[in-house]
Amino acid sequence: MSTIVFLGGGRITSAILAGLRLGKSKHRLVVHDRNPDKLRDLKKRYAVAVEPDLLNAVQQADMLIVAVRPGSVRELLGMVGKVKRRSLAVSLAAGVPLRVLSREAGAPMRWARAMPSPVCRSGRGLTAVAFPRSLPRADRKRVHDLFSSFGQVVEIPESKFDAFTVTYSCSHGYHALATLARVGQEAGLDRNTALLASAHALADGIIAWRNGKLSLESLLEEAATPGGIAAATATAMDAAGYGRAVRQGVAAGLRRARANAGK
Ligand SMILES: NC(=O)c1ccc[n+]([C@@H]2O[C@H](COP(=O)([O-])OP(=O)(O)OC[C@H]3O[C@@H](n4cnc5c(N)ncnc54)[C@H](OP(=O)(O)O)[C@@H]3O)[C@@H](O)[C@H]2O)c1
Repeated sequence: MSTIVFLGGGRITSAILAGLRLGKSKHRLVVHDRNPDKLRDLKKRYAVAVEPDLLNAVQQADMLIVAVRPGSVRELLGMVGKVKRRSLAVSLAAGVPLRVLSREAGAPMRWARAMPSPVCRSGRGLTAVAFPRSLPRADRKRVHDLFSSFGQVVEIPESKFDAFTVTYSCSHGYHALATLARVGQEAGLDRNTALLASAHALADGIIAWRNGKLSLESLLEEAATPGGIAAATATAMDAAGYGRAVRQGVAAGLRRARANAGK
């Protein structure tokens, strides 16, 4: 049984712990955070071990998961550098490159990056992983196995990580749901019916694409009869700049991810 130590006990750690619990993980799970109340809460909710002392936490790790916000990574790694143990470390920090992680840690860690989402709580998420060329196959497998215990895993080159991070956020779904439901309400539906209709419109279509053998183009063609209501709606949305709005949103996310690299 190996020990996985989470540095940072916030939102994504909580979601991963829920996913690991759902997948009946055999790992020993330890969380370190600077907030004792968060540690108490995680211990109660997920029956994990907690370690308020950073160096003690790092010393016991077979695998470290760095789950602090990008702006806190340097400070945290500066303190971890005192530890001599050469463990495998996986950073979840958006935008922070492998070269920065290796440089800031000082300690001889073997780094990988992973980008999960809070959907891993349900065991149905997706995680992208990126490895440096030098990372041994056995380490890659350990990272892959951990994240695939609560969802699908895709390996991508690190150069694509920011694009993946921005495209993949489950906030896209929540944002689209909130916007469509609000407009549905403005069109006359009560809030619950607007949310129900919008959730089915978005989720059912996507599930049909994921489960079926039909291409996105043919599904669109099936759902939007030429001259019909759905076609008129999509055409008006495109003309109003739907594609442009999404492009601008993704560009803003990419700029933020790149800024994280220099934090
Ligand atoms: N949330 C997501 O959906 C998601 C998805 C994928 C990847 N990520 C990545 O995961 C990382 C964490 O995100 P999050 O949303 O979970 O953030 P979060 O909720 O703010 O959790 C981070 C936790 O780490 C603690 N912390 C910060 N610096 C520390 C230090 N030096 N020593 C001990 N504890 C420290 C924070 O304490 P304070 O509150 O006192 O700062 C906080 O409790 C980020 O880098 C993010 O890019 C997040």
